[in-house]
Amino acid sequence: MTALTLSTAGAATLRADAIVVGVAKGAKGPVVAPGAEAVDKAFDGKLASVLETLGAAGAEGEAIKLPSPAGLKAPVVLAVGLGAAPEKNGSYGAEALRRAAGTAARVLAGSKKAAFALPISDAADTSAIAEGALLGAYAFTAYQGGADAKGNGKAALAEVALLGAKPRDKAHKAAAERAAALAEEINRARDLINTPPNDLTPEAFAAVASAAGKEHGLKVQILDEKALVKGGFGGILGVGQGSTNPPRLVKLTYTHSRDAKTLALVGKGITYDSGGISLKPAGHNETMKCDMSGAAAVFAAVVAAARLGLPVNVTGWLALAENMPSGTATRPGDVLRMYSGKTVEVLNTDAEGRLVLGDALWKASEEKPDAIVDVATLTGAMVLALGNRTFGIMANDDAFRTAIHEIADEVGEQSWPMPLPAELRKGMDSPTADIANMGERMGGGLVAGLFLQEFVGEGITWAHLDIAGPAFHEGAPYGYTPKGGTGSSVRTLVKLAERMGAGDLG
Ligand code: BES
Ligand code: MN
Ligand code: ZN
Repeated sequence: MTALTLSTAGAATLRADAIVVGVAKGAKGPVVAPGAEAVDKAFDGKLASVLETLGAAGAEGEAIKLPSPAGLKAPVVLAVGLGAAPEKNGSYGAEALRRAAGTAARVLAGSKKAAFALPISDAADTSAIAEGALLGAYAFTAYQGGADAKGNGKAALAEVALLGAKPRDKAHKAAAERAAALAEEINRARDLINTPPNDLTPEAFAAVASAAGKEHGLKVQILDEKALVKGGFGGILGVGQGSTNPPRLVKLTYTHSRDAKTLALVGKGITYDSGGISLKPAGHNETMKCDMSGAAAVFAAVVAAARLGLPVNVTGWLALAENMPSGTATRPGDVLRMYSGKTVEVLNTDAEGRLVLGDALWKASEEKPDAIVDVATLTGAMVLALGNRTFGIMANDDAFRTAIHEIADEVGEQSWPMPLPAELRKGMDSPTADIANMGERMGGGLVAGLFLQEFVGEGITWAHLDIAGPAFHEGAPYGYTPKGGTGSSVRTLVKLAERMGAGDLG
């Protein structure tokens, strides 16, 4: 991954391929943000007007490259937009900094080293810029031969030097280290999501989780298809039985101490969702390798919690299966006996996520954790409701749902609280089984949430994040968000674990 250093060097004298400066929206046009004074000086104090001539306004998303004047060691200056300038000496805001740093790192793909002279007022700013830069530098090139004319295959920016971040200050150092560990795990989740489904089978995912988990001191347990049969995991088996790639249930355990609180995370890990016998039409299956994004997020969050040594116990459950049609596949009309003992009439094999999650939630509940959060690319309905950048939060506890929403806000992830209306439950009544895996079409995301709730153990605080919208980004990259897997919800999960460890939450 991209290397990160904090440097005390001056912006004019540091050797780098490019120097990044911030430009903000001022009352009378663009203004150069603090941190870039030496660069502005090399332009005889005219950097803002040069940028204005080139069309800059200081708006978010802007990126303008300039050749350096004499007096700067770096040959290129890259100005990135920060949006409105804050009150005197205030912070530009974590998300504006994160996005500007991400844009800069992305635009500089193919370069070796960039110096970032963005405005830093405190350690939180250092953290945001470091996160943005390391996330924005991400490139998935494993399946490309090399750089082509379109810029595909360009290597990620190799090194980021943050100027103005006080390397000897404990808070800044810790912020940079935390950001680096977190970004590395988010990028690991992105790699998993982007890996084509012919290579990332449930077995392959389990192997990656096992290796990385052990490397970071986690306990790793894997239930293979035989163990799943023995344990009675009818949901996971029912979804996986149409594929030649058998399912897995992976448990990752990070133990801080016996008296610490325990957070259980459960991730939907459908390595490919064809829909099964209720096959998805063309146009709806091309990106369905992303259907394991919940499991990837859970995996990344548990490893990050361990790397950061958070004072909380975190268990991760990855419910891995491939949903394929075949002569052995579950049919619409089949009844599955879930791990909890409940029977489910499968009316639509494309509503498979709730089946694998139902088993994993019940298993996670047996250990009576202080809270369970599941993460899933669960419904197209949630994408219709909230769009491509916002995940929905449902919960059996209003305070817990609110807390997660606020935490997501704080870490720069868009989310919105959604209800679990009790009247939608009867739509899942089945004449044959205890429940059907489909209900009313209206409010489909909430119906899925109500289904999951039936598999949460009595009295356990639980929330469900439907990340079907933000998990996989199909549009043009922006800020620190690349095309493809985004790592949505990892920052929220890690902050939630941190808060639980600090005793701020149930
Ligand atoms: N994996 C899909 C949901 C999805 C849709 C994720 C778009 C990402 C982007 C899920 O398994 C699914 O197919 N859900 C169905 C449920 C329906 C059959 C009740 C849906 O949303 O259409
Ligand atoms: Mn599906
Ligand atoms: Zn799915």
